[in-house]
Amino acid sequence: MRVLVTGGAGYIGSHTLLELMAQGHEVCVLDNYSNATPEVLTRVRTLSNGQVTDFTGDVRDANKLDEVMQAFQPDAVIHFAGLKAVGESTEKPLLYYDVNVAGTLSLLHAMDRAGCKKIIFSSSATVYGDPVYLPYDEAHPTNPTSVYGQTKLAAEKMLTAWTSAQPGTTAVLLRYFNPVGAHASTRLGEDPKDVPNNLMPFIAQVAVGKREALTVFGEDYDTPDGTGKRDYIHVVDLARAHVAALNYAVDHEGARPFNIGTGDSYSVRDMVAAFERASGRTIPTKLAGRRAGDIAEMQANASRAQTEMGWKATHTLDDMTASTWAWQAANPNGYINTD
Ligand code: NAD
Ligand code: UFG
Repeated sequence: MRVLVTGGAGYIGSHTLLELMAQGHEVCVLDNYSNATPEVLTRVRTLSNGQVTDFTGDVRDANKLDEVMQAFQPDAVIHFAGLKAVGESTEKPLLYYDVNVAGTLSLLHAMDRAGCKKIIFSSSATVYGDPVYLPYDEAHPTNPTSVYGQTKLAAEKMLTAWTSAQPGTTAVLLRYFNPVGAHASTRLGEDPKDVPNNLMPFIAQVAVGKREALTVFGEDYDTPDGTGKRDYIHVVDLARAHVAALNYAVDHEGARPFNIGTGDSYSVRDMVAAFERASGRTIPTKLAGRRAGDIAEMQANASRAQTEMGWKATHTLDDMTASTWAWQAANPNGYINTD
């Protein structure tokens, strides 16, 4: 298939490009590089020995979208382009609604104009909010606790209404749990611009000596060791879920949400111990209070993705930490000045 990948130069998008090309799909990237660098696509081209058409532009720019649609004529779109910092979303709600909701609206209009009928959407487990029960299945009530989660849920609803109104359209809503890890080549990985918000990149920067200690946000949760538990998923497994979703979209219509996680969950202490095993280094920690908006535990019931799309995560926790360490050690400054 010809697949337009918005946000394809980002962390999850770049890994997905490789998996798509490995399965014979043709890819085109639209990215505004607000959280990425063109160096990523240079590396994807080298790793794949394949062709990546790319356009620089914003998903909110209708003219740019028309240009891309006309030039590439995609059969389907994978829509990664968006903003993802939970804390920032509370400080800049209109920006988050603009990029994540209006951006998706702009893309759907352009797809309609071009007659493109299939979209795979990057949603998030944050759409569920405080757990009524765990593991979350897709029927769990949706009640996001952050602006970020609200924008993902609003986009899901818009996509669902779009498919209801137009027979022949498909929206696969992938609710990611916590993506971590890096490509086995050590050439692609997560490269946060400022102080990392997320646990794994922060631990990796402590291990490599860029930061002194990990701050553990709360040890008084109702979990076995008191720290927050999450369902971490290797980014390559997540990338493969997009290939499975494309195959699913070929012979299914309508909108359907899928949890994309492993079904296991690990605490902050578990993650530190696993990273110490992978890196052979000690990760100093210091304790702080709970981070606002955090919940004790998130865990996916990912059985729908297995039953209906034939997708299942295969990487272990040690694969996640070892690949993160290998990436961080080989690229201590991320994509800048590394060669
Ligand atoms: P990322 O920031 O690495 O990738 C997003 C990409 O989109 C970047 O390359 C960025 O430059 C681009 N972009 C941002 N705004 C754009 C715009 N207006 N027009 C064009 N391009 C734009 O993030 P990621 O971790 O790869 O996440 C990809 C998607 O998955 C996002 O939609 C995110 O909300 C969602 N998601 C991420 C996580 C996570 O923890 N990483 C979890 C759940 C969902
Ligand atoms: N944590 C720390 N110290 C840190 C960072 C995190 O103790 O420096 C803890 C958190 O309190 C939490 C766990 O590590 O218990 C995981 O936190 P992350 O920030 O890595 O991940 P979140 O679960 O908060 O959120 C992430 C992404 C969201 C995404 C969600 C999906 O930030 O975009 O996973 O589950 F939607």
